[in-house]
Amino acid sequence: MAKHRILSGMRPTGKLHIGHYLGALENWIKLQNEHDSYHLIADYHVLTTNPDTSEIFNNTIEMVIDWLATGLDPQKSPFFRQSQVKEHTELFLIFSMLITKARLERNPTLKDQIRDLNIQNVIYGHLGYPVLQSADILLYKGDAVPVGEDQVPHIEITREIAKRFNQQYGELFPEPKALLTKFSRLPGLDGNAKMSKSLNNTILLSDEPDTVQKKLRKAVTDPQKVRRNDPGRPEVCLVFEYHKKFNPGEINEIESGCRSGALGCVDCKLKCTAKINEFLEPIIERRKQYENRKDDVLDILLDGEKKARNTAAATMDEVHKVMNLG
Ligand code: TRP
Repeated sequence: MAKHRILSGMRPTGKLHIGHYLGALENWIKLQNEHDSYHLIADYHVLTTNPDTSEIFNNTIEMVIDWLATGLDPQKSPFFRQSQVKEHTELFLIFSMLITKARLERNPTLKDQIRDLNIQNVIYGHLGYPVLQSADILLYKGDAVPVGEDQVPHIEITREIAKRFNQQYGELFPEPKALLTKFSRLPGLDGNAKMSKSLNNTILLSDEPDTVQKKLRKAVTDPQKVRRNDPGRPEVCLVFEYHKKFNPGEINEIESGCRSGALGCVDCKLKCTAKINEFLEPIIERRKQYENRKDDVLDILLDGEKKARNTAAATMDEVHKVMNLG
């Protein structure tokens, strides 16, 4: 792959879970070594579905601690809050003139959110969610964006806006592509297809070993495997999914043991717990160092925001120039 300018982003919702790691962070960490990366904290995007900002700072710091603890390196790739780089709002306004309301209403991710969150009246800024995201990406001339499936429509809108801008005012922006994360979604402990904080079915990156054990003990398994010797169906069991990701070395034994009935769910879950705890141990260790140094975490953001501002300001100068503004 040629060298890219990567722009990755997350909304600050607090402590992250193992699904965030497999679905995003693992990939970001790899990419930061091969490409120029910027890591955005989409704090304004939170407001599209939640006006309450009382926890936003705390949630931001907790998320950044998880970024640091899993190995994202702010020296290689600046971390910054969208709200601290004013150029995001400026470019968002300009981009909002380059896309129609009808196009934004067709966005399938918006339709899913309206359904899932049971939203009666869509806020103007929520309709504009992908327009702000386009500004996030194009301010840094990001040409590759690591995302999950649900974000692909937003990258398509970003490409359309870039194309429209370039046609109208002159070639300035790349048309970014989505780098799809290979991992399918990690299921939640309750058997829901998605691990998600709002469903309360997560294993956090900060969960201590006994918490992981308790959570896994309650995890849903194959309902047909009631007693230890009953043959089970790994393909319907979420614990088997976790084994695939965290215990690939033993996967064949686990599968045949489950199918034959030789391996009971209790033992299977204990094996899985041990592997997940092994994975989490160094993360929790590193996390503890940062938990006592939250001022240093803020300094990391302030430093990243300086770098991000430089890049963003240079792009806005170019934007103003090609638009004959100022
Ligand atoms: N919409 C993204 C999400 O919910 C977060 C985000 C905001 C983002 N701006 C971005 C992701 C820019 C990538 C690039 O996951």
